[in-house]
Amino acid sequence: MLHTYAQLGIENSLLGFVPTMGALHQGHLHLINTALAQCDWVVCSVFVNPSQFNDPADYENYPRTKDQDLDALSAFDKVLAYFPEKDELYPPHLPKLLDYNDPALFGILEGSYRPGHFQGVVTVVIRLLKQVAPNKAFFGLKDYQQYLVIKKAASLLLPMVQILGVETVRSVDGLALSSRNQRLGEKALHTALNIGKALRHIAFQKHKIPLDQAIAQAAWMLEQTGFETDYLCVCLGNNLLEVTEWPDNAELIALCAAKIDGVRLIDNLLF
Ligand code: PAJ
Repeated sequence: MLHTYAQLGIENSLLGFVPTMGALHQGHLHLINTALAQCDWVVCSVFVNPSQFNDPADYENYPRTKDQDLDALSAFDKVLAYFPEKDELYPPHLPKLLDYNDPALFGILEGSYRPGHFQGVVTVVIRLLKQVAPNKAFFGLKDYQQYLVIKKAASLLLPMVQILGVETVRSVDGLALSSRNQRLGEKALHTALNIGKALRHIAFQKHKIPLDQAIAQAAWMLEQTGFETDYLCVCLGNNLLEVTEWPDNAELIALCAAKIDGVRLIDNLLF
């Protein structure tokens, strides 16, 4: 991989990086466009990372659309597509997982419902960052906890790479785009809009009614529409510490993970 930069004559270019697991949609393409606006060249990787799936069925069912992904990437100028093989990221001489832990972030929210998930994410992202050696790497704020986890891990392990967050791309009716949306039927796709509604309800009620009441109303809305909710809460935006009363002056984030028709969706709203 690294040799090709010199072969392409771009070894002195400002390089951006967008790691993905494929089934590319407008959210991924927005990350690439954001990276292109700030960098000379952009590498986009597509790799369904086994070590971040705690449920083997979820890994098996994850959409794999290599031909379409290649088509989407080849429509860009100055984007290099990278489809690593498993052995390139998990060679036999390396331990399966990176020896890195962040108890404050690994154990909460997504981490508490998906044990081992962030260990797998950090392992693959740090290995990709070492291979690709970008100046800047771009991550979606849709996966806000992942963004914070990676920002912290990279600042400790690879401080020369700048980690940037990119806003969430939504459908016109407000559903956060996700590769998992492909697994929703028409009715469930419509019902899924309630996640965004629940998050907006909480933000709208800031300082109007007690925080626990706002959350209870939003949770009820999700339950009524057939969701099984893993979590729905409000945290401080900078470290994801949960808050139970409205603070006076702090960036807040409402976060939700909920299942509809067996598909687990996550979304959040910074406010
Ligand atoms: P994946 O789910 O494919 O997402 C790749 C990147 O796209 C992530 O940074 C994610 O936050 C971002 N993204 C997804 N949906 C988005 C949307 N609607 N708007 C904006 N950005 C969006 O996240 C992963 O893959 C993996 O965990 C990975 C980081 C590649 C490590 O395996």
